[in-house]
Amino acid sequence: MAEQRIAIVTGGNRGIGLEVCRQLAGRGIRVILGSRDAARGAVAARELAAAGLPVEARQLDVSSAKSISECMNWVRNDVGRLDILVNNAGVMIEEGDADPLEELEIIRETMQTNVYGPFLLSRLAIPIMKSRRHGRIVNLSSSMGSLTEIGAGYIAYRLSKAGINVVTRVIAAETEGMGILVNSVDPGWVQTGMGGRGATRTLEKGAETVTWLATLPDDGPTGAFFRDRKAIAW
Ligand SMILES: NC(=O)c1ccc[n+]([C@@H]2O[C@H](COP(=O)([O-])OP(=O)(O)OC[C@H]3O[C@@H](n4cnc5c(N)ncnc54)[C@H](OP(=O)(O)O)[C@@H]3O)[C@@H](O)[C@H]2O)c1
Repeated sequence: MAEQRIAIVTGGNRGIGLEVCRQLAGRGIRVILGSRDAARGAVAARELAAAGLPVEARQLDVSSAKSISECMNWVRNDVGRLDILVNNAGVMIEEGDADPLEELEIIRETMQTNVYGPFLLSRLAIPIMKSRRHGRIVNLSSSMGSLTEIGAGYIAYRLSKAGINVVTRVIAAETEGMGILVNSVDPGWVQTGMGGRGATRTLEKGAETVTWLATLPDDGPTGAFFRDRKAIAW
């Protein structure tokens, strides 16, 4: 593409999201760094911009339909194009001793951020991408949402990551032949706030397959689940 591509990365102020912003901007892509806290986003974007990378911050709370709509209206009307959407923002808020009613609330809150937000963002991104017949949507999933690898515990997080995989499959099927490629990625166990102590993967490695999927060539895959650039079982 001759003109500068535009990417939105949700939860771009820290962790894997921040590293994805760095990697995409390093390829000359103009990155809109979404963050639910405007001040934290501005600090992160300033840090990357100071290194000469084309990054700007935008307030975007993916648990809020209003915040998502406002941001996507701005993209459509003022930015005028969107090539890449990285649905990275996510929460894992399980408590081991929650009673069933508390557990249900945790499931609701987790689904709101990890599934419904990315779903709405994708729905609003597609018409903008479709107008240029070019788009990449990357959904941050996890092996914890893989039905093949499923185990005990973390019901809310597992449901949400299995759910985002369904979003990937449905949106990929609905956009087939439109130049839009939609995939899920398991970044591995990455050294972030969520990954916690003991995580084995560097941020750079955790973000690598995300960046690869965000910059796939036109004949790249769609509707699949990847780890380390290889398709894995759902
Ligand atoms: N780390 C791992 O080992 C691992 C493994 C598999 C999958 N993943 C997935 O990878 C993604 C990134 O994880 P991470 O490890 O980088 O997590 P992290 O360090 O905890 O960072 C999470 C990011 O999401 C943002 N966020 C949370 N709720 C949000 C909301 N409502 N609106 C906007 N932003 C929100 C956070 O913003 P604040 O700074 O405001 O909190 C933060 O920027 C997640 O989807 C996670 O499930 C991670």
